[in-house]
Amino acid sequence: MIIKSAELETVCGITSTLPETEMPEIAFAGKSNVGKSSLINGLLNRKSLARTSSQPGKTQTINYYNINHDLYFVDLPGYGYAQVSVEIRAKWGKMVERYLHTSKQLRLVFLLIDIRHEPSENDCIMYDWIVKNGYEPVIIATKLDKIKRSQIQKNLKIIRQKIQPVEGTIIIPFSAQTKQGKEEILQLIEDRIAE
Ligand code: GTP
Ligand code: MG
Repeated sequence: MIIKSAELETVCGITSTLPETEMPEIAFAGKSNVGKSSLINGLLNRKSLARTSSQPGKTQTINYYNINHDLYFVDLPGYGYAQVSVEIRAKWGKMVERYLHTSKQLRLVFLLIDIRHEPSENDCIMYDWIVKNGYEPVIIATKLDKIKRSQIQKNLKIIRQKIQPVEGTIIIPFSAQTKQGKEEILQLIEDRIAE
């Protein structure tokens, strides 16, 4: 897939109504700070279209990026960010759940998991939510550049063991720094949009 244009089109707060889009959507889910916004920038060859931050909880809205006037990348708010109240955390969860439940254009959900750590309970819950809503998430193991090459297979195995994804689930290791994994992800998106 060649990116010809990318712009932030819609930002939805916790209580906003979700837009009824007319183009296919590709969503990016995962805990706070896992690298969702960095992945979106990496795929789009943009340094800072999606705002990133070393402080977790940067993206607290659902952001729709219009890509090539052909599809949307949907940056979902991260979960598991400890510094917010229980109430707000519950609202985020509701918002993400509502999105998964109501979007009519959603074609593919990427679930991002930090390759360095064993997936959390929240990662497992998120995986199950996505499956319950009828999607088979593709897992992206982020921050690949932060581990030694010799650790990669072992860590991917830990992710599989913990998440217990449905058979055939693809896990793509990705680094926003080296862009490793980028072409594979773009190809997957292209294939899914064409279906
Ligand atoms: P929220 O918006 O809070 O949900 O976070 P997010 O998932 O969008 O994470 P974001 O892309 O803002 O990245 C969080 C931090 O991790 C930033 O400091 C990024 O620079 C860093 N980061 C993201 N991806 C990578 C990666 O592949 N390699 C390295 N080394 N750092 C990364
Ligand atoms: Mg973000």
